[in-house]
Amino acid sequence: MIVFNSIKEFNKAKENFDSLSFIPTMGNLHRGHISLIDTAKEYKNKVIASIYINKLQFNDKNDYLNYPKTIEDDINILEKHGCDYVLIPDESIIENIINIKAPPISNKLCGQSRPGHFDGVLTILNKFFQIIDPEIVFFGKKDYQQFVLVRDFILDNNLNIKIVGVDTVREDSGLALSSRNNLLSNQEKIIATELYKALKDIAINKTNLNSNLINLKKDYLKSLDINVDYLISCDPDTFEECYKINEKDILVAIAAYVGKIRLIDNIKLTKL
Ligand code: PAF
Repeated sequence: MIVFNSIKEFNKAKENFDSLSFIPTMGNLHRGHISLIDTAKEYKNKVIASIYINKLQFNDKNDYLNYPKTIEDDINILEKHGCDYVLIPDESIIENIINIKAPPISNKLCGQSRPGHFDGVLTILNKFFQIIDPEIVFFGKKDYQQFVLVRDFILDNNLNIKIVGVDTVREDSGLALSSRNNLLSNQEKIIATELYKALKDIAINKTNLNSNLINLKKDYLKSLDINVDYLISCDPDTFEECYKINEKDILVAIAAYVGKIRLIDNIKLTKL
């Protein structure tokens, strides 16, 4: 695997590359990321990952400063799983960057409590797309709103990039893998499994999908001391609240605090 420690280094080598498959990351890699690499390896292209903790997408400075940095381990994981290149740019990547304003659906779900977050995500991705010029990009569907915003950004800007969404990887307990899980105590990890249990319960009862069902689950989670930011049944493209499972697929998405840690998860319900 070739490691590029600057955009300059990457640009020098770039002209010799064929089409690339790209996996953007902020490091602290886990099995969720490995599944992105494994999926990318199923395509013919060489695979490039990036590791960059993007200041622009953090609305909480401490969250940014405390973001786990595990660069040596990350490089080993990427190499072990067959990644061909990794780009680890320095902070000059955001100098004179073109600021992207995310569309209004970015203000729903996670955007409500993280204003500006998706502007920062699209701004850095737009820059990476310009530098790397990937043919295919891979995103995890745990961050479903991010996946939809990137998909729409590519479409709206006529970028010649194919986007592949990769299913969420879970612990045996059902807990969706996330870098944030490392910050949970053992007890909190057990409580956190209730998020996916709630989503699965809603899925099992999808023939009765309505606001009551959602509110009951919300109340149950609250009774376990889980501070629910949102639990919503919505249109998977617009994130408008919606229960019309007879007419279309529905996304049920959750964000909740277990202790001080904010976790997200979702489940897609197929149309009846
Ligand atoms: O999902 C992430 O880790 C980040 O939002 C991303 C896509 C790497 C952009 O910084």
